[in-house]
Amino acid sequence: MMSPSLVTVLEQPQRVLIDIDRVSKSFAGRRGSGAAPAAFPAVREVTLRVYQNDIFGLIGKSGAGKSTLLRLINLLERPDSGRVVVDGRELTALSKPDLRAARQNIGMIFQQFNLLQNATVFDNVAFPLRIHGLLNAPRLNARVRECLELVGLVDKAGNYPAQLSGGQKQRAAIARALASRPAVLLCDEPTSALDAETTRELLDTLRNINRELGVTMVIVSHELSVLGALCNRVAVLEDGALAEQFALADTSIARSTLLGRELAYYATEDYAAAAWRGAASA
Ligand SMILES: Nc1ncnc2c1ncn2[C@@H]1O[C@H](COP(=O)(O)OP(=O)(O)OP(=O)(O)O)[C@@H](O)[C@H]1O
Ligand SMILES: [Mg+2]
Repeated sequence: MMSPSLVTVLEQPQRVLIDIDRVSKSFAGRRGSGAAPAAFPAVREVTLRVYQNDIFGLIGKSGAGKSTLLRLINLLERPDSGRVVVDGRELTALSKPDLRAARQNIGMIFQQFNLLQNATVFDNVAFPLRIHGLLNAPRLNARVRECLELVGLVDKAGNYPAQLSGGQKQRAAIARALASRPAVLLCDEPTSALDAETTRELLDTLRNINRELGVTMVIVSHELSVLGALCNRVAVLEDGALAEQFALADTSIARSTLLGRELAYYATEDYAAAAWRGAASA
């Protein structure tokens, strides 16, 4: 028999944390000679929802609009039309100062880490906290330490980025992204610059952050194995439009895209077994 608390958990409706409603974004074409530049539609009328605690994957060919869609979630790109709501706040309706504050709730990491090269790991992580100036020095130090502990980088606090391995650089970037205790972490190709073993370790770190801190994640990756190992839900983008979305474990509904069908393999026990064999022999 199920315990009453489990029943409650199962019956709780999932909370929508990211609500993207018919969002479009075009970029101005190159200025030709005379003729008006045609706008290039990078994201077209995309509607999707990410629930609290999801690790949501975005996949699609190069140029499909994955990075643009990710940047629309924290309004690094402002949509031409449509609505973006994150954690109950309609970002597309906020003033600039309110948007700055709301962005503290959304961390982001990148393929090339984007660390400040002339600042130590400690100062990189402290940077967003200092900008917002909400913590006094002892609290700021404690928070930076806490974040470095989360990613296993305390012993590198005094190093500069050039003195770190790729995996360590991405850990520093994760620590920085988590400093302001965001509810959401956006990841654009977070492991694409890393080797297989380092990728596996980083995926473990991201999974732990999701499970232990309850951080909801959206991950863009062209590596099916990365999405297969991490995500519970995946959306496929084609030419800026949402082609399909599905729960990774649900193979009962036929997938309409090639990428969707390929991903089905990563939800199988065969894949899990092979991944473990790889981990054991590494
Ligand atoms: N700032 C910009 N100005 C003009 N065009 C842009 C801009 N940013 C993106 N685009 C165009 O929008 C389309 C989508 O780009 P985006 O970077 O979102 O693709 P992507 O799916 O992330 O690709 P990749 O897998 O190569 O990273 C591309 O055709 C790109 O050339
Ligand atoms: Mg991209």
